Amino acid sequence: MANEETIIQFRGATKVYKLRKKEVLAVDKLTLDVEKGEVFGIIGYSGAGKSTAIRMINQLEALTSGKLTVLGQDVGRLNESQLKALRAEIGMVFQLFNLFNAKTIAKNIEFPLKLAKWTPEKRKARVAELLDFVGMSDKANVYPPELSGGQKQRVGIARALATNPKILLADEVTSALDPETTIDVLNLLKKVNKEFGVTIVMITHAMNVASYICDKIAVMDDAKLVEFGTAAEIFTAPKHPTTVRFVKTATESDVSDKILSELVVRHPDLAPEIDDLFKEVHNV
Ligand SMILES: Nc1ncnc2c1ncn2[C@@H]1O[C@H](COP(=O)(O)OP(=O)(O)O)[C@@H](O)[C@H]1O
Ligand SMILES: [Mg+2]
Repeated sequence: MANEETIIQFRGATKVYKLRKKEVLAVDKLTLDVEKGEVFGIIGYSGAGKSTAIRMINQLEALTSGKLTVLGQDVGRLNESQLKALRAEIGMVFQLFNLFNAKTIAKNIEFPLKLAKWTPEKRKARVAELLDFVGMSDKANVYPPELSGGQKQRVGIARALATNPKILLADEVTSALDPETTIDVLNLLKKVNKEFGVTIVMITHAMNVASYICDKIAVMDDAKLVEFGTAAEIFTAPKHPTTVRFVKTATESDVSDKILSELVVRHPDLAPEIDDLFKEVHNV
């Protein structure tokens, strides 16, 4: 049952892509609640339906059937202006950054504020604030091609947060980054969640990424939700074979200690199980 803090509610949400010669069932009767203020991870292999599911939230993809409620509104029943208002509450960050290469960093971040018709003075102040928040103040007048991947993603995050959205959607935002930079970007997302209370829905195909930052994890396989739980539950007692495989790759990764200590902080109740896992990983 959904409670009043449920910010996103999938109920049998289904997407069928109708191509010329065939139909693709991309998301099959997804039922899922995302609570306000949490970092929610969707994990699964390529083609599992993750991107389609997340793109339903801001209606980049319409549902074929089922129901989806976001911020109390049935997204299938919105008119043009209601949809625009809803989208203003939802920021999105992408794997390949999607920055305007011909605009400076400051102009990239300013763009959504222009669309939202903020005054020039307010825009300037907000851009300065965001640049400071993501630690990029010294790069305001630089162009995206001059930045590293991690820096580009910081700008992408700043731009997505410009209008103070309540929800941030992140689709494979660390997949193009090296492990060190991945941790930096994940820490930044964590800061976004903690300091601004933004609910984050993030997609990844890497279990270490999901368990480092997510409170809850949903596992998708072949268009379906196959497992759901807190990050610690998923990590300590995976049930579905796909989840088991994901956890195995995460514990074998070089950041597994960081993940496990993060899980202990967030789930002291599961500390003994996580401790056992740590020992298992290190053969002690
Ligand atoms: N625009 C589209 N048109 C047709 N098929 C699509 C489209 N987008 C995704 N698909 C198909 O839907 C399925 C789920 O894709 P996607 O949601 O992108 O999965 P994931 O993000 O988990 O890799 C895949 O079989 C993919 O080929
Ligand atoms: Mg995808």
